[in-house]
Amino acid sequence: MRHELLDREWMYRVEGYRRAFELVDGYVDAFVEGLRSGRSMGVERIDVNRVLLLGMGGSGIVCDVAAEILSSKGIVAQVSKEYTAPPGEWDLIIAVSYSGNTSETLNSLLQFLDRGDRVVAVTSDGRLARLGERLGFKVIRVRSGIQPRYAFPDMLGGILGYLENLGLDLERINLDEIRGFQERLKRDKGVDENPAKEAAIRISKSHPIIYVYREVRLPGYRLKCELNENAKLLCHYAEIPEALHNDIEAIPRDGLIIAPRSFREPYEISKTIEALSRLLGERRVLELRASSKSYFEEIIELFMLSDYISLYTSILRGVNPLILHRIERLKDINAAYHEIKRRLDEKLG
Ligand code: PA5
Repeated sequence: MRHELLDREWMYRVEGYRRAFELVDGYVDAFVEGLRSGRSMGVERIDVNRVLLLGMGGSGIVCDVAAEILSSKGIVAQVSKEYTAPPGEWDLIIAVSYSGNTSETLNSLLQFLDRGDRVVAVTSDGRLARLGERLGFKVIRVRSGIQPRYAFPDMLGGILGYLENLGLDLERINLDEIRGFQERLKRDKGVDENPAKEAAIRISKSHPIIYVYREVRLPGYRLKCELNENAKLLCHYAEIPEALHNDIEAIPRDGLIIAPRSFREPYEISKTIEALSRLLGERRVLELRASSKSYFEEIIELFMLSDYISLYTSILRGVNPLILHRIERLKDINAAYHEIKRRLDEKLG
């Protein structure tokens, strides 16, 4: 049986898998290191009421999580994943690009550079870092040499450490609790006791359909993106309850509903998922749960769970989770990308 591969120790010595698991196993340490880099930017006392965050893909989701945290503190936070940013006045612009060379992010940022807005960048290198050096905005550096999506904890930590210095009060994060949850997902935990392995087995035999609601929108989206990029698996993603008024009619026979759940879930959503499970049959609904009952810890645990699921799925599908075949190639042949880079290089002199 192919799923037995998940419990074979030698599988995790195969180069692509070895490195990918090493990176995901290092989640909490990477987050702590990110916090340290963010805090090292120094303390500033400025009023931050409106924040714009720019980023795409694996960097964009860092913006999404940071924006959600900012919003929970009453700060207006908007994420832009476009070639041009929304017009408006912002107290702070946070540009996140792991490579530092993503054209959508850089082009959006260009709109603000001549206005003298307050900018902070999160990157490992590239044109974004060079722009920061040239124009004098702060650059939170994260470790280089990994794939952007694996630097999620580094980059999120970087932003949160920086925001703390601006006076944003982040509650104490219980890292031990997160580490405890992670132990249950690691490769040495067998298929029978590991929720990530169990989920990967079910996902790899079906047509995955992720249904999210507001409280779990981001972990659900992370799972979609990680299944796409790491496991090269196309999966459907929709929001409930809206999807239950249209989408539900088109669920294929091998459709597996993947439902991340939260301790913050509204009563109506709980009842709706129960009803859906009765309608389709329990075997066709896969619930994903964290163990924490705290907002931040739960989000991080669900992110970790998503990442492990995608890696186990990549093993079952026999694909390398570190190699991307189209994203970089498309950037190379996209004339818009080249034009934006030319304009940036002009600015850099
Ligand atoms: O995970 C990935 O490799 C992608 O989703 C990238 O994050 C995306 O292409 C944007 O690149 P960057 O994160 O370097 O700005």
